[in-house]
Amino acid sequence: MLHSCNQGKMTIWSFCLILFLSNSILVLASHVRHLCRADQKNALLEFKNEFYVQELNSNGIVGDKKTEKWRNNTDCCTWDGISCDPKTGKVVELDLMNSFLNGPLRYDSSLFRLQHLHSLVLGSNNFSGTLPNSIGNLKYLRVLSLGDCHLFGKIPSSLGNLTYLTNLDLSVNDFTGELPDSMGNLNKLTELHLRSAKLSGKFPSVLLNMSELTLINLGSNQFEGMLPSNMSSLSKLVDFEVTGNSFSGSIPSSLFMLPSLATLVLGRNNFNGPLDFGNMSSPSNLIVLSLLENNFSGPIPESISKLVGLFYLDLSLWNTERAMVDFNMFLQLESLMFLDLSYINTRSTLDTSIFSPLLSLGYLDLSGINLKTSSTLSLPSPMGTLILASCNIAEFPKFLENQTTLYYLDISANRIEGQVPEWLWSLPDLKYVNISQNSFSGFEGPVDVIQRCGELIMLDISSNAFHHPFPLLPNSTTIFLGSDNRFSGEVPRTICKLVSLDTLVLSNNNFNGSIPRCFENFNTTLSVLHLRNNNFSGTFSEESVSEHLRSVDVGRNRLSGELPKSLINCTRLEFLNVEDNIISDRFPLWLRSLPSLQILVLRSNDFHGPISFPGESSSFNKLRIFDISENRFSGVLPSHYFAGWSAMSSVIDIVDVIPSRYAGRDDSGNYQNSVTMTAKGSKIELVGSVFAIYKTIDVSGNKFKGDYPEKSHQSSGSSRF
Ligand SMILES: *[C@@H]1O[C@H](CO)[C@@H](O)[C@H](O)[C@H]1NC(C)=O
Ligand SMILES: *[C@@H]1O[C@H](CO)[C@@H](O)[C@H](O)[C@H]1NC(C)=O
Ligand SMILES: *[C@@H]1O[C@H](CO)[C@@H](O)[C@H](O)[C@H]1NC(C)=O
Ligand SMILES: *[C@@H]1O[C@H](CO)[C@@H](O)[C@H](O)[C@H]1NC(C)=O
Ligand SMILES: *[C@@H]1O[C@H](CO)[C@@H](O)[C@H](O)[C@H]1NC(C)=O
Ligand SMILES: *[C@@H]1O[C@H](CO)[C@@H](O)[C@H](O)[C@H]1NC(C)=O
Ligand SMILES: *[C@@H]1O[C@H](CO)[C@@H](O)[C@H](O)[C@H]1NC(C)=O
Ligand SMILES: *[C@@H]1O[C@H](CO)[C@@H](O)[C@H](O)[C@H]1NC(C)=O
Ligand SMILES: *[C@@H]1O[C@H](CO)[C@@H](O)[C@H](O)[C@H]1NC(C)=O
Ligand SMILES: *[C@@H]1O[C@H](CO)[C@@H](O)[C@H](O)[C@H]1NC(C)=O
Ligand SMILES: *[C@@H]1O[C@H](CO)[C@@H](O)[C@H](O)[C@H]1NC(C)=O
Ligand SMILES: *[C@@H]1O[C@H](CO)[C@@H](O)[C@H](O)[C@H]1NC(C)=O
Repeated sequence: MLHSCNQGKMTIWSFCLILFLSNSILVLASHVRHLCRADQKNALLEFKNEFYVQELNSNGIVGDKKTEKWRNNTDCCTWDGISCDPKTGKVVELDLMNSFLNGPLRYDSSLFRLQHLHSLVLGSNNFSGTLPNSIGNLKYLRVLSLGDCHLFGKIPSSLGNLTYLTNLDLSVNDFTGELPDSMGNLNKLTELHLRSAKLSGKFPSVLLNMSELTLINLGSNQFEGMLPSNMSSLSKLVDFEVTGNSFSGSIPSSLFMLPSLATLVLGRNNFNGPLDFGNMSSPSNLIVLSLLENNFSGPIPESISKLVGLFYLDLSLWNTERAMVDFNMFLQLESLMFLDLSYINTRSTLDTSIFSPLLSLGYLDLSGINLKTSSTLSLPSPMGTLILASCNIAEFPKFLENQTTLYYLDISANRIEGQVPEWLWSLPDLKYVNISQNSFSGFEGPVDVIQRCGELIMLDISSNAFHHPFPLLPNSTTIFLGSDNRFSGEVPRTICKLVSLDTLVLSNNNFNGSIPRCFENFNTTLSVLHLRNNNFSGTFSEESVSEHLRSVDVGRNRLSGELPKSLINCTRLEFLNVEDNIISDRFPLWLRSLPSLQILVLRSNDFHGPISFPGESSSFNKLRIFDISENRFSGVLPSHYFAGWSAMSSVIDIVDVIPSRYAGRDDSGNYQNSVTMTAKGSKIELVGSVFAIYKTIDVSGNKFKGDYPEKSHQSSGSSRF
């Protein structure tokens, strides 16, 4: 410090001097009197040494190695993460949230000598062990926060001894079993956070004893059974969240009658039965009601209009059983900002202008509802997100022209023909556009019209009738899905300028020429490249391979030459399909070192030569699908060849298990990996998540000598796979 001061001007000099002096005074002062008590300091230093400090594997977390700055010769009450009682010097708060602590919380940890702690915040560390019973010794705790700590085992019953607790957070851990009954003693508890904690069993009835609770979050666990019918003891409850469990039965009306209740988040369970909002004499305070993906059927109760304070309402997948719905019931919910009525299975036809009283609406999902002719559609307020998939819309909704705040637009799976209007790309905030599964044939305006949309991130135009010319895309484009159209000619090299491109899917078109040779040093993270079923020719060159690739499908083209050796640098590669080309190469044994490769399909090319080499082991560790059929491989195929392929251990007979609904596109997007399976003579395309269950080897249609491996035999049968 003095060194840098030496070079300063006079003013800086004096500033430095003052700084230096005041620092010394502080240091001196702290030598004089430490607030911290020796027993507390030693407990803390020992606690520090119980862990090794190392960045956790969970990427991208910004943390702070607080304990590394603790020093024996300074006042522990000044340490990062510590607060002391100003009179007694006892440590009352310990906050080591996200401090890269690795190691178990020991039963005899010196932590439990900090008897006077009021607040213990150790979230986002890696204790990977159980929560010891001795936690019950810290009997003055008000706040206990152990979220995201890799804890497992049972929650100790000694928690029930922490009778001063007001705030308990055990979210995001791997516990087993139920909450201990002793927790019924925690009658001062106001907030209970147990999201994603792997808990199971019935709704913990002990919670009904905790009448001070304002927040209960049991989301994303494995709870089941009914909610208790009388929840009136939770009279101070404000937030109740149980999303993503298996609760069933009806929602008790006593819950709706809790006077303070503001958010009720019950989605993704099996709730059913009549929805009874009870006897709400005073206006409800409910602002969030989320019931999506439950098992509700029959009419949506019109009494929902009594919930006049709602600003978030999600009734997605309520099954009205093709009944008519009177959408007027939503008009009294004047504060609504978020409304999701998607796939409620009504035969009503809706005129969106009915929503004109909802002046705050910013998110609207009406997917699956028939909309009245689009030329008359309108919406009252500036929308951010508008999702009108499968709404039987036949014309491009013109009212969007004035929706200048729109950033997410989905009008997929409708019946819209003709050109995408030029003005769409002038909406200044537009980032996500899905117009797939319509009958569009082109883009109105000049070839660079989409580039006006300078913030575009995702564009899905797949399954339309788009043809040449291929549009120029803004360089913000991250995901471009253009499969199943009629594009022809070469892929314009302007695609090479899309520095943010992550996903490029152009399968099932008529492109020809070579695969763009610009992904190699491409300063992008191109991870999905699907060019299947076009007329690409020439070699699949090294320059076409980005080392970020996760999924590559160039099958069913006319590619020749060898496999690009640069694939060896794609350590994330999971899926490689080059089937049905004329690639002429030897067996790419070198791919065995790719740690993530799960699916390798070389079928129907001109690969040749042996696939096994004396002294070389084949270690495709994660491989699940291996198809090298219809090539010219020769030589001996030793039956032990596949012995080390552990991921392949349960080969099943695909011919018998392909459910017909998987034959073709599944509904979770259209850019997944796909493989053509030949079953009983007809080709069937397998797409998407269904892959997860298939494990297969096909080496048929080659010239091997020797025994075929047992598993291959089993799975290939009379036809392939
Ligand atoms: C801290 O220093 C004191 C003496 O200065 C010593 O007695 C004590 O053992 C030290 N604590 C640790 C944990 O090193
Ligand atoms: C947590 O610690 C365990 C055991 O020390 C270790 O195996 C695991 O990789 C660690 N997890 C993270 C995310 O660092
Ligand atoms: C909890 O308290 C009870 C009685 O107050 C005592 O018997 C029990 O040992 C305590 N448990 C723990 C783990 O501290
Ligand atoms: C409920 O709390 C009271 C104290 O307020 C306690 O005596 C009782 O045992 C608790 N009941 C349960 C089921 O834990
Ligand atoms: C619900 O429980 C409360 C006590 O928690 C009780 O006072 C009330 O009578 C019960 N209501 C019904 C309808 O059983
Ligand atoms: C859905 O509700 C029906 C009654 O309406 C019931 O028979 C069925 O078991 C429920 N399904 C689930 C998964 O809870
Ligand atoms: C609803 O409240 C009214 C008075 O506000 C009362 O007469 C009626 O009995 C209540 N009904 C139920 C089911 O609690
Ligand atoms: C958009 O707003 C302008 C000016 O407010 C109006 O003239 C035009 O008719 C509106 N367009 C549509 C399709 O509503
Ligand atoms: C995006 O493209 C435009 C021209 O098309 C260019 O001027 C601009 O610098 C590019 N932005 C980035 C971040 O590369
Ligand atoms: C990638 O970025 C580096 C540095 O940002 C630059 O030198 C190089 O030319 C870029 N490569 C390509 C192909 O754009
Ligand atoms: C793999 O990457 C390394 C380092 O970037 C490079 O030197 C090497 O040539 C690459 N290998 C292939 C086959 O492209
Ligand atoms: C676009 O919409 C279709 C049909 O609704 C859907 O299957 C697809 O996943 C959507 N695309 C994206 C990228 O979300």
